[in-house]
Amino acid sequence: MKILFIGDVVGSPGRDMVHDYLPKLKEKYRPNITIINGENAAAGKGITEKIYKEFLEHGAQVVTLGNHTWAKKEIFEFIEDAKYMVRPANFPQDTPGKGSVFINVNGTEVAVINIQGRSFLDPLDDPFRKADEIIKEARKRTNIIFLDFHAEATSEKQAMGMYVDGRISAMVGTHTHVQTADERILPKGTGYITDVGMTGPYDAILGVEKEAVMKRFLTSLPVRFEVDKKGRAQLNGCLVTIDKNTGNTKKIERILINDDHPFFS
Ligand SMILES: [Fe+2]
Repeated sequence: MKILFIGDVVGSPGRDMVHDYLPKLKEKYRPNITIINGENAAAGKGITEKIYKEFLEHGAQVVTLGNHTWAKKEIFEFIEDAKYMVRPANFPQDTPGKGSVFINVNGTEVAVINIQGRSFLDPLDDPFRKADEIIKEARKRTNIIFLDFHAEATSEKQAMGMYVDGRISAMVGTHTHVQTADERILPKGTGYITDVGMTGPYDAILGVEKEAVMKRFLTSLPVRFEVDKKGRAQLNGCLVTIDKNTGNTKKIERILINDDHPFFS
């Protein structure tokens, strides 16, 4: 079972990269399921129904979210009907949407979970206890369980990886927009990477116009952050190969496409 994950898609440059490269990645890796983190897809913050549907049309089976879930007001209009969209499961009770979904791949169920960290982010419900709860439920149905842990601190992400090791197939970190080179299989069989990185502007700072971010650091004045549309673009992701019988990861590889790391088919 191969799972292709595309890291945080930022604005139209990110969406264009998905449009241009997802077919090529599918051709090269032949994933059984594709997951996209889309929480920055609409102008850098949030997602619209149109973009969610575009991702599904481009061949994603699940769209995951994060701390910008509610950034576009229209999310409240469609999240309950968006069958293949998951937002962090540890948002407070009675929050619209859901934190996990099951996808049927030729008779095999794959659970996809989204959870958000709390270090340097909003004080949500305990992500570790929430992981226990969801994994316990998911394991009643399948041993193929994939977690997008949307978090800032590398320590919190490593802690989550070690905490769920052996209970889920793989955990990928999202949110920092910078890919880490620490992809590995944890001792009890869970595939892990601290952050898969982002998909979108490359000559920018985390996807935002570099001039604005530098001005903020230099002056501390309020600055409007816009998605950079002038420069080159990149795609970051990873491919996880899972043993269908054990649910363990057999192989995890990073995907990095930019002018410094060109794509080879
Ligand atoms: Fe985020």
